Amino acid sequence: MIRIRKGAEADLYLTEFSALYFPWNSEKVLIKKRISKGYRQPELDHELRQRRTIHEAKLLHEAKAYVHTPVLYEIDTEDCTITMEYVEGARAKDDMTEDMAEEIGACIARLHEGGIVHGDLTTSNIILKGSRIYFIDFGLGEVTTEIEPQAVDLHLLKQALESTHYTHWRKLWKKILEGYKTRSGSHDVIKRIREIEKRGRYSKR
Ligand SMILES: Nc1ncnc2c1ncn2[C@@H]1O[C@H](COP(=O)(O)OP(=O)(O)O)[C@@H](O)[C@H]1O
Ligand SMILES: [Mg+2]
Repeated sequence: MIRIRKGAEADLYLTEFSALYFPWNSEKVLIKKRISKGYRQPELDHELRQRRTIHEAKLLHEAKAYVHTPVLYEIDTEDCTITMEYVEGARAKDDMTEDMAEEIGACIARLHEGGIVHGDLTTSNIILKGSRIYFIDFGLGEVTTEIEPQAVDLHLLKQALESTHYTHWRKLWKKILEGYKTRSGSHDVIKRIREIEKRGRYSKR
């Protein structure tokens, strides 16, 4: 088992996994393990990690009705781990074309229409594998059809683009919005993004 990342809330391990019914067939899998925080009371800490693990796994799976997400293999509520398919690809952070940007926008529109908000929509949480776009990291996701969190999703993505694809981020952002506009009701969400930006400007003073 190789640790590939040490996050603020979770560690990520890459390993092989054999399903009970197919022991001869092993797959590369990713294990996301929520780590305990020393400053929390131990029982509360475990309960919190359990809840977040279950919440993330549920949304990861539910989102599958609308976008590609890794296959969910196991949830261990004692260890607070999610075992899922390892998606071998490039992070949108490192590699995004205008065509992909438009498709990413359409994916977000489908997710929102399905009543799911991602909650942490940065370019590190989108993986490109061939022509497929995968969404990961639903820990901060919500089941809601409200405009505000939908607009925040897009606003976060815009900020992520701004800080990574500094040269052509405007073009990519335009394409994402074009893709998102396939959704009815997108107009109100896009209007709300502008309001969020205005709020941000005032609060910086
Ligand atoms: N299923 C997966 N397949 C491939 N890489 C993954 C997968 N899940 C996570 N990763 C990689 O690990 C990083 C962190 O995982 P993530 O679930 O986003 O945790 P965090 O909450 O720490 O951001 C991702 O940005 C991605 O590079
Ligand atoms: Mg992440």
